[in-house]
Amino acid sequence: MAKAAAPDARPPVMVAVFNQKGGVAKTTTACNLAVCLTAFGYTVLLVDLDTQGNATGSFGVSPLPTSGAFEVITGAARVEDVALDTVYPGLWLLPATISLRDNARVLGHAGRRRGLLETRLAATGVDIVLVDCPPALGPATATALASASAVLMPVRPDPFAHEGLVNTWYEIKRIRETVNPHLGVAGIIMTMAASEPAGADVARVIRAEFGDQVYDAEIQTDPKVAEAAQMGLPVTVLDPDGLAGRSYVDACEELLTRLGRQRRPETQLHLSLGMDFALNRLREWRSTTHAALLRMPGRAVSWTHESGEEDGEGETGTGHKEPIAEPYAPPPPAHRDATPSLIVERPRARFGLWALLFLAGLAAGMTAEALTGALAKLLR
Ligand SMILES: Nc1ncnc2c1ncn2[C@@H]1O[C@H](COP(=O)(O)OP(=O)(O)OP(=O)(O)O)[C@@H](O)[C@H]1O
Ligand SMILES: [Mg+2]
Repeated sequence: MAKAAAPDARPPVMVAVFNQKGGVAKTTTACNLAVCLTAFGYTVLLVDLDTQGNATGSFGVSPLPTSGAFEVITGAARVEDVALDTVYPGLWLLPATISLRDNARVLGHAGRRRGLLETRLAATGVDIVLVDCPPALGPATATALASASAVLMPVRPDPFAHEGLVNTWYEIKRIRETVNPHLGVAGIIMTMAASEPAGADVARVIRAEFGDQVYDAEIQTDPKVAEAAQMGLPVTVLDPDGLAGRSYVDACEELLTRLGRQRRPETQLHLSLGMDFALNRLREWRSTTHAALLRMPGRAVSWTHESGEEDGEGETGTGHKEPIAEPYAPPPPAHRDATPSLIVERPRARFGLWALLFLAGLAAGMTAEALTGALAKLLR
């Protein structure tokens, strides 16, 4: 990431994607909205604060890098040094790292400080930061909520969804009262209603209780989501006009309207480039990333980073972008080297021959000493 904020740049709008419940499509929502917001013309940083690293993996980055979100929060690394470029111009990823998994508790002390993450990310100069939170109000989520402008809650309407949402709502209220008075609500997005037997009923109850906090756009259940994840693509790129793809584009437009309605200076974004522009951009990315996939069998997305001093180019570098990792190719099937295997077997064959001659000599009435002498002469 080579972006540095202008001195008078506003801090980015920070939206934390959170629900205490697991498996409700937080990561899917964060990744797809990040790409959609970029398609609408904003610069976006997606932060993976989940130790599972699913958002990082969703962009084809595997294994987890050694430096990322955790190092930025603790001050061990600068965001502009460790955020990764993506193939989508204007979208960067601050990946999860193994150290986040092992040391998340460290964030308990520093992370909950109001505005810490925002301060750390100010140098990016991006318009919007989206944070993919883990499914619990642990240190990582607390770090995100202590800085966020708003929380976006994906809800999968299963029988326990209502209770999960009420608990999450309560926690947000508590954090607003104690740590971050600026924490707003960016709304509730229904996901995968059709995959639940009572989905429509539960969705109706939630809509009745939470009113216009719930998005009009519902994220449709769509097998393309899993297909896209397998390919390391967001479904909005794989299939922008499909069931889930199009519902995420609609939800993105709604998110922008809701952020605009909050009327706080930090949530006021410049005007988006509009729905038609966004859809066309996503369709264009679909064709270019598909072409990249074809060129790189075995790896979903070609990640790039700016060449810098580390690779010997310094400030005079060409700015040439190189893949972060070589395309993954499965190791060749293990094969035995022909030469050693012959060396192992030849003496055994010779030993068998001498043993046969020895036994034949004994059978012919020769003494063992005479036989040994005769064989020794043969060997010479
Ligand atoms: N619209 C959809 N249609 C079909 N499957 C979906 C859809 N959205 C998400 N999924 C699938 O649901 C599963 C859970 O999604 P995801 O990982 O985004 O949830 P999560 O809330 O981030 O989970 P966790 O709490 O573990 O972080 C994944 O297998 C994902 O592919
Ligand atoms: Mg997740």
